[in-house]
Amino acid sequence: MTECLTISTESIAKAADLLRGGQLVAFPTETVYGLGADACDAAAVAAIFAAKQRPSFNPLISHVADQATAFSLGAETPLATALAAAFWPGPLTLILQRTPDCPIASLTSAGLDKIALRVPAHAGARALLAAFGGPVAAPSANPSGRISPSRAAHVMALMAGDIPLVLDGGACISGLESTVIDCTGDSAILLRPGGVTRSMVTKTLQAAGMAHDIMDAPPIGSGQSPISPGQLESHYAPQHPLRLNANRAEDGECFIGFGDSHSDGKTLNLSSSGDLVEAAANLFDMLHIADSRCKTGIAVAPVPQAGLGEAINDRLQRAAAPR
Ligand code: TXA
Ligand code: MG
Repeated sequence: MTECLTISTESIAKAADLLRGGQLVAFPTETVYGLGADACDAAAVAAIFAAKQRPSFNPLISHVADQATAFSLGAETPLATALAAAFWPGPLTLILQRTPDCPIASLTSAGLDKIALRVPAHAGARALLAAFGGPVAAPSANPSGRISPSRAAHVMALMAGDIPLVLDGGACISGLESTVIDCTGDSAILLRPGGVTRSMVTKTLQAAGMAHDIMDAPPIGSGQSPISPGQLESHYAPQHPLRLNANRAEDGECFIGFGDSHSDGKTLNLSSSGDLVEAAANLFDMLHIADSRCKTGIAVAPVPQAGLGEAINDRLQRAAAPR
């Protein structure tokens, strides 16, 4: 049963409790309704992908209460300082390098060492972030491939049954997702156009006396560095080659099992009980561990294609793709 509650002190407290318990909550932002989970809890984030029925793990935006929190999670750069000062809180998402102690789950950033951060302006979102006290990972609250929701009723129509609570904060002002800008280098790179326009960004950087040529994400297949994940064949690429549908490790390989046939306690196992949500939550961490442990390569057991298995296999295939 999905509850739909108007924003109030009580409903916000309830939502924050659900997030603390690893559950999902849909909440309003000024752009679209988000489907939120504790960004540091890999299992909760895996539940987002399950509810959205996303066939692949696109990296998610972590929503935070203020700039200080954002820059404790993602490394501040001069570009980020200027853009955050101008547009936060608001419909702008900055891509930054993870800080060394960043507690955000690797599934939230789909295994990347860059994370997406946004300080939303909507009063309901801000109240939720304040009550919860940590970063909230949230994609738009619609099943994959469906239209983004700009009203609580849209979320109820699309997702009821999958989530315990929808916070109703009325219609979103913008209805258009946030602008996404990679600020990790010397020039801003526009990864997704949105509410904050190109000319607004240019003017801000110009006024701050900074390089203000905004680069566009390189087109797919251009051979330039991969910064626009999701669309790319090999976006999370381990150092070592990855072998799919393996049932044991060859010499020099590190094995990642799935299900009870591989649960000896020492071998890495995505989920010894065969739980796909648990497997999704473990996927990127185990790929990192296996990549550092192995000598020649990583061998991964077959994962069923059902439910979240589709997204898990999508990522495994990309990681195994020739590069
Ligand atoms: O307005 C919005 O941004 C809404 C509300 C809920 O905040 N959220 C949203 O999330 O649109 P989603 O998951 O639909 O879009 C996230 C975007 C994708 O284009 C994704 O590729 C990009 O952010 N992104 C996330 N993490 C990234 C990363 N580490 N590097 C590059 N791009 C990233
Ligand atoms: Mg979306």
